[in-house]
Amino acid sequence: MRASVALSLSLGATIASAQLQPRQTTSIPDFVTNYAPLVYLDQNDVYLPSDIQAQLNNTYPALNYTALPKADVPSPLLLSDLEQLNILGNCGQNFDACPIYLTSKDNVATDPPWLYGVLPDPVTGKTVGARSCAIIVNDHGGGLVDAYYMYFYAFNYGSVVLGQLLGNHVGDWEHSMVRFKEGIPISVWLSQHEYGQAFTYDALLKKGPRPIIYSAFGSHANFAVAGTHSRNVSVVTVNDYTSPGPVWDPTLSAYFYTYTPSSATNGTFVPSDATTPTGWLYFEGRWGDEQYLDSDPRQVNFLNASIAWKYETGPTGPLDKGLNRTDVCPNVSGTPCTTLSVLPITSGSSIPVTVTRTTSSQYSVPTGTGGGNSTSSRSAGPTSSTLTSANGAKGLNVKIGFSFWGVVVALLVW
Ligand SMILES: *[C@@H]1O[C@H](CO)[C@@H](O)[C@H](O)[C@H]1NC(C)=O
Ligand SMILES: *[C@@H]1O[C@H](CO)[C@@H](O)[C@H](O)[C@H]1NC(C)=O
Ligand SMILES: *[C@@H]1O[C@H](CO)[C@@H](O)[C@H](O)[C@H]1NC(C)=O
Ligand SMILES: *[C@@H]1O[C@H](CO)[C@@H](O)[C@H](O)[C@H]1NC(C)=O
Ligand SMILES: *[C@@H]1O[C@H](CO)[C@@H](O)[C@H](O)[C@H]1NC(C)=O
Ligand SMILES: *[C@@H]1O[C@H](CO)[C@@H](O)[C@H](O)[C@H]1NC(C)=O
Ligand SMILES: *[C@@H]1O[C@H](CO)[C@@H](O)[C@H](O)[C@H]1NC(C)=O
Ligand SMILES: *[C@@H]1O[C@H](CO)[C@@H](O)[C@H](O)[C@H]1NC(C)=O
Repeated sequence: MRASVALSLSLGATIASAQLQPRQTTSIPDFVTNYAPLVYLDQNDVYLPSDIQAQLNNTYPALNYTALPKADVPSPLLLSDLEQLNILGNCGQNFDACPIYLTSKDNVATDPPWLYGVLPDPVTGKTVGARSCAIIVNDHGGGLVDAYYMYFYAFNYGSVVLGQLLGNHVGDWEHSMVRFKEGIPISVWLSQHEYGQAFTYDALLKKGPRPIIYSAFGSHANFAVAGTHSRNVSVVTVNDYTSPGPVWDPTLSAYFYTYTPSSATNGTFVPSDATTPTGWLYFEGRWGDEQYLDSDPRQVNFLNASIAWKYETGPTGPLDKGLNRTDVCPNVSGTPCTTLSVLPITSGSSIPVTVTRTTSSQYSVPTGTGGGNSTSSRSAGPTSSTLTSANGAKGLNVKIGFSFWGVVVALLVW
């Protein structure tokens, strides 16, 4: 009797310790980390993954360009409490109608250091000291599991069209999603501007079992290959640039959650452990400044057409990214979900601009094994904080659609 009890206890303990991973409980299946995409940041990008809480520390919540009364806002404002702001904006159930903006305490035009985020460790790929990813698992039942990898950057650097930099915004949420069937990765979604691309898992480049994806210079749109990625926005050709720069392993600095939908646009998040904050996932406001008024000296209203601006509004958070999908693609009305089984052919340079910047305490020089060349000015002790374009009008990658005739095509920020 005694021997048999002892045996089953120790067996139980062995099984439990074999299944438990650091950072997560058994509610997050191992395959979610085993097949998590690895992200190549662009070799010239200086606006790197950033700590999610740090965004709160470096901003204040504003409504109509005015700080909310201090007495109404939790202090310090923590991720665990962020959803308490919804009521201050009467946000209801509608993200688009939520007028709360996490607004930079610093003048963004002066390029404050916190916009730059954290360079991943060149050996491990971890953004040390910065929680820069949220991994959200939606188990649909019947063996179908979607794992969302939500990537956070403090700043989106826009692009230059006709000599004008357009489409900057504070805060940038991007994501990939891997769809699993019985624990086997089947397909992968990559967010790009207002939409994105889906690939079969087999089609993607890999490191071991892990897909490799590329985060575009400045915009952080995700692509399957390195190079220049063009798209037509009305009459203008818009480019993104990707390259095998520093490798980021988002799983090493992530919060983990499960998600159970209650409607098409809402649900319940359960954190993987008691130290993981959850309230922020229900926040309906924006993770950056509201688009500056045309009267603001920092702002540029492109061609006076009220279609594209130098500074645009920050994005909504993960809950607004379609967390309960039928297909691997989000349901954007009228757009069929096509899953590509071969990699696209890209061409052209992955070097869009010459970027220099001042040093920051969070910044370090990549050394060696980043997976690509560290030939950008990042490594060269820059002496100014200018961001200059050497490539003129070729680089528009604003997250808007526009035409010269004043028709707004799309206004979604992904
Ligand atoms: C943000 O502020 C909180 C509360 O003051 C503090 O505990 C935390 O260390 C800060 N985080 C960052 C990344 O600055
Ligand atoms: C926003 O503030 C401006 C100036 O203070 C005011 O004229 C305007 O009515 C306000 N808008 C809203 C929606 O409260
Ligand atoms: C989501 O549901 C929570 C309750 O779980 C509610 O407080 C919140 O307003 C809802 N948000 C949206 C965008 O529907
Ligand atoms: C953009 O439009 C041009 C002219 O119609 C066309 O040749 C080109 O293939 C298009 N590029 C993309 C990426 O759709
Ligand atoms: C844009 O419009 C404003 C007033 O609406 C005017 O003062 C300004 O000169 C215009 N700028 C250009 C470049 O046309
Ligand atoms: C979630 O998505 C599944 C699959 O598309 C659908 O069957 C289900 O009704 C959705 N749940 C909610 C609450 O919308
Ligand atoms: C997709 O969204 C449209 C509305 O844009 C809705 O009518 C349709 O039912 C949705 N489809 C699915 C599968 O959720
Ligand atoms: C690094 O640079 C060398 C020399 O310019 C080039 O041959 C090589 O392909 C580059 N490697 C990557 C990963 O970009």
